[in-house]
Amino acid sequence: MSVPSKRSLLAMDLEQMTVAELKEILRSLNLPLVGNKAELIEKIEYMARTMPESVFQYDDIKGLDPLINWSKMTGRLFSPEAAAYGFTRFPAGVLLTGVPGCGKSMVAKAIANEWGMGFRRVHPDELVGSCVGDNESFMRDLVNDLAADAQMGGFIDEAEKILGQTRAGSHYRAAEAARDSAESILLQFMEDDNSGVFFIFTANDYDKMSPALLDRFHGRFFIDLPSRSARKDIISSMLEIRQRNASEFDVGALVEISDGFSGRDIRTAIDEAMKVAFFEEARPLVDSDLFESFSQAVPTSEIHKEQIAEMREMVSQGKMRRANSQELESGVLVAKDGGYVGWV
Ligand SMILES: Nc1ncnc2c1ncn2[C@@H]1O[C@H](COP(=O)(O)OP(=O)(O)OP(=O)(O)O)[C@@H](O)[C@H]1O
Ligand SMILES: [Mg+2]
Repeated sequence: MSVPSKRSLLAMDLEQMTVAELKEILRSLNLPLVGNKAELIEKIEYMARTMPESVFQYDDIKGLDPLINWSKMTGRLFSPEAAAYGFTRFPAGVLLTGVPGCGKSMVAKAIANEWGMGFRRVHPDELVGSCVGDNESFMRDLVNDLAADAQMGGFIDEAEKILGQTRAGSHYRAAEAARDSAESILLQFMEDDNSGVFFIFTANDYDKMSPALLDRFHGRFFIDLPSRSARKDIISSMLEIRQRNASEFDVGALVEISDGFSGRDIRTAIDEAMKVAFFEEARPLVDSDLFESFSQAVPTSEIHKEQIAEMREMVSQGKMRRANSQELESGVLVAKDGGYVGWV
């Protein structure tokens, strides 16, 4: 069972649950199981209100159904039933690229939680050393450690930093050679090992990664800015996580003024609005607080305009799959605002 996220805990109808079900929730949160039903409920409610939002489940991720469906199907391949069914290999990894703040790290954390396997987060700096041969030995240690603890996930954020194919002239030849051989250790491992090690890489600069490495990833996804309906779901869910009833706010109007916002932009704007209300004697949050902070934000679509256009180009060339759900009612992307491609 996955660990419940803050959103799912807040949404639970605890009164309707049996004592056994309540204890199951407390167990997954590593909390003591003692007390009568009312005390168990109180403990879970307190936890739900005070915990930070750091654990994610699939349901917390809005607007990325193709990627979530892929993750659900792929996670099943690590079960004993999959081997009994006839699968001979474990999947080796997924590569996530996309617009900053649209859910790459969130998806990685949800996979770690939902698949119920250990996950190790590897910072690129851990794999880069100052001495000759460091990079190779760090990579060899990493893959050996992961294999020893399999089934195991390795999550490498900004992977292009360690595995990038920069050809910057003869000065960098030594560094390049070291990087290439660290990469070849990884390539070899991903090809040969079948102990159940799964890599989640995120990369913004996808073009810098070698074709051989890209080839090893069963899933390669591009996460775009949230569509209109995804923004609606993100705004509602974020209000609920902040213990507000979304139906009391004009979410439709916020969806209109948040065109080009990433999920993180939306989160920042909501927190900014709450900060203002909280500072004024913790008065209730009102629509005008939200309108004010949403209209002051500079959306990611403006800040990363060129980078986003380049990444979308790779999707259209078939190098990556779109992670975002298609809008059924409209279904197509259109050019607007002089070349910016957005959802209709
Ligand atoms: N699709 C989404 N559904 C719900 N919330 C989202 C979504 N995308 C982003 N968010 C919110 O924005 C926050 C930032 O997202 P996340 O850290 O996953 O972005 P990222 O793609 O890893 O960004 P970066 O490229 O900067 O590392 C999340 O913790 C969540 O609160
Ligand atoms: Mg991230």
